[in-house]
Amino acid sequence: MKIAVLAGDGIGPEIIAQAVRVLTVLQRDGLKFELEPGLLGGCAVDATGEPFPEVTRKLVTEADAVLLGAVGGPRYDMLPRQQRPEQGLLSIRKTLGLFANLRPAILYPELAGASTLKPEVVSGLDIMIVRELTGDIYFGGPRGIEQRDGQRVGFNTMIYSEAEIRRIAHVAFQIARKRSHKLCSVDKMNVLECTQLWRDVVTETSKEYPDVILSHMLVDNAAMQLIRDPKQFDVIVTGNMFGDILSDEASMLTGSIGMLPSASLDENNKGLYEPIHGSAPDIADKNMANPLATILSVAMMLRYTFNQEDSAQRIENSVKKVLSQNYRTSDIGSSGMNMVGTVEMGDAILASL
Ligand code: NAD
Ligand code: IPM
Ligand code: MN
Repeated sequence: MKIAVLAGDGIGPEIIAQAVRVLTVLQRDGLKFELEPGLLGGCAVDATGEPFPEVTRKLVTEADAVLLGAVGGPRYDMLPRQQRPEQGLLSIRKTLGLFANLRPAILYPELAGASTLKPEVVSGLDIMIVRELTGDIYFGGPRGIEQRDGQRVGFNTMIYSEAEIRRIAHVAFQIARKRSHKLCSVDKMNVLECTQLWRDVVTETSKEYPDVILSHMLVDNAAMQLIRDPKQFDVIVTGNMFGDILSDEASMLTGSIGMLPSASLDENNKGLYEPIHGSAPDIADKNMANPLATILSVAMMLRYTFNQEDSAQRIENSVKKVLSQNYRTSDIGSSGMNMVGTVEMGDAILASL
């Protein structure tokens, strides 16, 4: 097994360093894999002028899995779009065909007080957001900014083929089958034709899963319901853009965006694993970032790409343990807790592993 490790920008190197320590423990205990570092995002722009250089393309194509920190930062915001760090991330997803993005939002009981919502609203929360990742307005054309009739217009295209919708729907139904047999599909079919097709194709696909109860919700209502009563949801399936927004929203139900891992999978469960958050330039290089989302992403890697369920649970249990020992980074902290930095949180995880 070969794991490409792309630390990225901002807090990326800090959180990846802690995740790599976890992998090194598993290696010591017998799991066989090699770690190969590579450049993606702003650090790749600095080194090569491109956010997703050819060497990285080769590295991730040959690897069995990719571990990513985060990319981007204000330093790169003035670059032309094709050279932006985020373009590197979008290209890697597209190149590897990573259409299925799984974003679990789980509230660890110890963090019920860290959420900005009332503990009774969030306690026991366990949602899986299935976000389509290689289509939608993110990749649709035509797109651009142009002069028309003496002024600039900006435009993008929201587009999904039925094949793209059907394959992500299958992933979501199969996940729902392993959970509570409930699936909620989120769209905006009252306004957008593209998402009318989404609803139609998800409904057609549901005929193959008579044991799963399918419901539909408009995205504006879904955003509200996630805050009002998040536990009504189990598995949510939605498009690329709505999934991006709803998963950041859902992360706050768990206490912090620093707690949410993700898996981005192709048809064969080759995957890229990364926290859902960004490069957090406001706290970079301050030993403040919460590394748990990245460490939990390693657990997802072991589960989905390497079929090492025991090792995945070992990591997840170590996260539960350190939380029960009251270790907290500042994003999930409160008075009376054992406040630590990124590295010290990594130390606690290693001790509990
Ligand atoms: P962000 O997720 O980086 O940060 C939002 C807020 O959450 C900030 O206050 C940040 O300090 C906090 N935060 C994020 N991760 C944290 C962690 N692990 N521990 C503690 N606090 C954490 O979003 P943003 O500020 O909108 O974006 C910053 C940059 O990251 C932009 O360039 C954006 O494009 C990029 N980005 C990259 C990815 C990715 O690589 N997957 C994802 C989102 C944003
Ligand atoms: C995410 C990020 C990315 C996205 C950006 C950085 C391209 O926000 O992974 O959630 O929008 O998909
Ligand atoms: Mn996002």
